[in-house]
Amino acid sequence: MSKPRLIVSRQIPPDVVARIHEEYDCPYTGADMDADTLIRAVTDHRADALMITSHLPFRRDVIDRLPGHIRIVATCSVGTDHIEIPAAKARGLPMTNTPDVLTECTADLAFMLMLNAFRRGYEYDRVMREGWRVHYGLGEMMGRRASGKTLGLVGYGRIGQAMARRARGFGMKILYTARNRAAPEVEEGATYFSDLRAMLPHCDALSLHAPGGAATAKVMNAETFGLLPKGAVFVNAARGSLVDEAALIAALQSGHLYGAGLDVFNNEPEYDTRFAALPNTFLAPHMGSATVETRNAMGFRALDNIAAVLEGKAPIDPIWS
Ligand code: DGY
Repeated sequence: MSKPRLIVSRQIPPDVVARIHEEYDCPYTGADMDADTLIRAVTDHRADALMITSHLPFRRDVIDRLPGHIRIVATCSVGTDHIEIPAAKARGLPMTNTPDVLTECTADLAFMLMLNAFRRGYEYDRVMREGWRVHYGLGEMMGRRASGKTLGLVGYGRIGQAMARRARGFGMKILYTARNRAAPEVEEGATYFSDLRAMLPHCDALSLHAPGGAATAKVMNAETFGLLPKGAVFVNAARGSLVDEAALIAALQSGHLYGAGLDVFNNEPEYDTRFAALPNTFLAPHMGSATVETRNAMGFRALDNIAAVLEGKAPIDPIWS
C-alpha cells in the first residue's frame, strides 16, 4: 500500500524526520518555505497532509489556495495566533496544534529568564567573557533576591500553572489574572485577580503566559508597566504581541523595571535591537520549547494528529470544532 503524502514547511528534529520517512511519502528538505513555495510543494506532491510551524503566517490567503487533496494541517506549536482559524473553519479544514508536550520546558525557560533578570545573569556572563580580573566589593554587582518574592502571572493555563509550581519551590507568593478563576485544586493557594491593573502593584515579578492575538495585544503598555512597583522584574516567554516594546524599553532604561527576561518579540527574527543594548535584559531567540525532548514530542504529536485524521478518526488536538 502506498504511504500517505506529507509536506513539511520547515526544518524539524532528526528523530521526527526519521519517523516521517518511515510512515510517509515526504520530499523533506528542511527548507524554510514561504507561502508560495508551500502551495507549490503541496500541489506538486499531491499532499494529503501538511505540517507547519508558527513561523509561517497561515492566513486566509494561504488557506484558500490550498488544494482540495489536503485533509489536515498540523502546526508544530501550541500557539495558534499565526492561523486565521475562521478561514480554516469556513473550509472545513481540520487543523491541530501540540498542547501539553511543551508545557514543562517552556516554563523552565520562563523561570530561567526570571532568575537571570533578578540576578543579573547577562552582566555576570559578560564580565567573565571579558576576562574578569578584579575582585568586586561586597556592595558591587548586587542583584535582587528572587526567593520569597511575589510573582504575578498573566494567564493561568498549562504553562502559567507550571511556572507557578516552579515559583512555589522558591517560596514565592503567586498572584494571577485570567479570564476565569481556576478551581481551588488548580489555584493551589494562588490569589486570583479578575483585573490585571489591580494585580500589577503587588508584583515583584510579572510573567506573561497568555496567548497572542487581538484580545491580548499590548496588554503591557506604558500605563500597565507604570502600575508595576519600581524595581519589578518582567518576563515574557509567551508572545511579543502582548507587549508595547517602546514602553518596555523606556521602563528598562529609566530603571522603573529592574530587569527583564525576554524570549519573544514583536517582530521575529528582526527584533528591536535596542533590547541588546540594555544590560538589565536577558534575551533568548524564541526558544521556550527548544529541547530535544520537547521538540521531538511536538513533532510526534503533530504526526499523531495527522495519522488520526488520515485514518478517518477525530483529530487529537483540534484547534477549531
Ligand atoms: C509555540 O509552540 O507556540 C511556541 O511559541 C513555538 O512557536
